[in-house]
Amino acid sequence: MTGRALARIAAAVVAVLLSAGAAADAGAADPAETARILRHGPWPMPWRPDPGNRLSGDAAAAALGRALFADPRLSADGSVACATCHRPDLHWTDGRPRSAGLAAGDRNAPSLVDVRRWRWFGWDGASDSLWAASLRPVLDPREMGGSIAALAGLVRGDPVLAGLYRQALGRAPLADDTALAVDAAKALAAFQETLASGRSPFDRFRDGLAAGDADAVSAYPADARRGLALFVGRGNCSVCHLGPAFTSGEFEDVGVGYFLERGRVDPGRADGIARLKASPFNRLGPWGDGGGADAAATRHVASQPRDFGLFKVPSLRNVARTAPYMHHGRLATLEAVVRHYSEVDEERLHPGRARLVRPLRLSEGEAADLVAFLRSLTSDER
Ligand code: HEC
Ligand code: HEC
Repeated sequence: MTGRALARIAAAVVAVLLSAGAAADAGAADPAETARILRHGPWPMPWRPDPGNRLSGDAAAAALGRALFADPRLSADGSVACATCHRPDLHWTDGRPRSAGLAAGDRNAPSLVDVRRWRWFGWDGASDSLWAASLRPVLDPREMGGSIAALAGLVRGDPVLAGLYRQALGRAPLADDTALAVDAAKALAAFQETLASGRSPFDRFRDGLAAGDADAVSAYPADARRGLALFVGRGNCSVCHLGPAFTSGEFEDVGVGYFLERGRVDPGRADGIARLKASPFNRLGPWGDGGGADAAATRHVASQPRDFGLFKVPSLRNVARTAPYMHHGRLATLEAVVRHYSEVDEERLHPGRARLVRPLRLSEGEAADLVAFLRSLTSDER
């Protein structure tokens, strides 16, 4: 081969490398990566009302729910409202590692934004509907310490609440305490269904990629773009934080530990299934609407030893607004979360489960990129 031919081949190789680099810069990396990115949208995705709640999607019911949500009289001593721990100004969390109502709790208060989309509620999935998850804190002695009778009495006896109830249900508050408390919980659910996250820089990038819109693609910051590549690639994050809502909606172990102080443990999902099965307010019970529609998952779920210490995979939309992190709130910042995944102690992971989490050993730059990506999931509106 002549020297000139070699030079031509070398030039061609360089050109190919350069164009591949340019494509990566434009966000249009390899097709497999693009496909993985596209699966995280479009957003918002369609939503369907809960067939187990006849007030689901109803605006008048949401108005009653909004009033109840802010009302501290739902608690035993009149000091704790839902909004005490799910504060609108803190993206519907309380900003504390672990919540405290009437007494100190063991878990971090999750945001309620997009809560209408989940199948299981609570870090341990102890509730299978949004309305049942809304009744639970009223009755929990450490949260609000209320009762069915007190909640029913409040709705019946307060003229404003009774009026809102009449508007939503088209009848006077029921005489049966449990039926009335369940209606109140269903109205609380209808209110929380209105809390939905909007579009984020990531969504504009993702849709630009889908539509071949170079401007939208190049507007996405380069560090977030590199972090996204880690998220769907070597980081393996999308295995659990999958789809447009960035969650499988199921329960996993990422090795953050389930010990509470004084040798107590939080059994997580194992306990959640037991509590779900025992609850008269689950989808198999008499209080849901739609004749037990959507009850199959509740019927089939069974507590097993391997569920011990598993917690719900949280959505990552707006995660920059919901610090601190994890079920016990022990990781204060997104940097700390990324450090956790970078250095995770494999000894702390569940034996006998597929190893989806491994120490990633990220460089400082990679860790910063991953945080930049997580921040790009913050929606535009507050
Ligand atoms: C004392 C603080 C506190 C109060 C008061 C409180 N919550 Fe919560 N909320 C939490 C905590 C902590 C969790 C997680 C519970 C768990 O994992 O067991 C939670 C979980 C939830 C969930 C499940 C969210 C999800 O993504 O799984 C819903 C829904 C909810 N709360 C609604 C309400 C409503 C409605 C009220 C008022 C009736 C209320 N909360 C009162 C702290 C509180
Ligand atoms: C095996 C499934 C799985 C994988 C893989 C995974 N996560 Fe998670 N993630 C979870 C679970 C489960 C939690 C909650 C754990 C807990 O509280 O005990 C969580 C929590 C988080 C949180 C905190 C959210 C909050 O609201 O508290 C962030 C941020 C996060 N993960 C980001 C990532 C990133 C980035 C990666 C990739 C490096 C990743 N995750 C990989 C399952 C997973």
